Amino acid sequence: MLAIGSDHGGFLLKEKIIEFLETEGIDFRDFGTYDAQSVDYPDFALQVAQAVASGECDRGILCCGTGIGVSITANKVPGIRAALCGDTFSARASREHNDANILALGERVIGPGLAVDIVKVWLESEFSGGRHDRRLKKIAAIERGYTKGE
Ligand code: RB5
Repeated sequence: MLAIGSDHGGFLLKEKIIEFLETEGIDFRDFGTYDAQSVDYPDFALQVAQAVASGECDRGILCCGTGIGVSITANKVPGIRAALCGDTFSARASREHNDANILALGERVIGPGLAVDIVKVWLESEFSGGRHDRRLKKIAAIERGYTKGE
């Protein structure tokens, strides 16, 4: 199950992505916002991030005007690795190298066609493991309060 959410600045892009998910028969839960009225992005980013961190949803997609606000917010939740992507290369690498569990997109930055391509690539790509796993363990250690580098 995929979690999806946005603020007003990412609302239209969220609707485009939902169209794509429905066409592909991909299960998702829409955490809002449900119209273009001004709201605060942390409220929606937090819900999606918590759904992913708790295991209720496997992965999440967040949209706002730039993608920056939702990614900053989501990355405050332990266990979340949110990647703001504006190209398919980064989208693939965010899965293969960083095991990104949330994709953040900026409606005011990229067009809907590119955004849907990014979503496709991101959903199809898998974590490569190996040396990347060691690095993710270091990120997790930082979340637990570890402050020293190696
Ligand atoms: C809303 O105007 C805008 O600030 C928001 O969508 C996002 O871009 C924040 O990072």
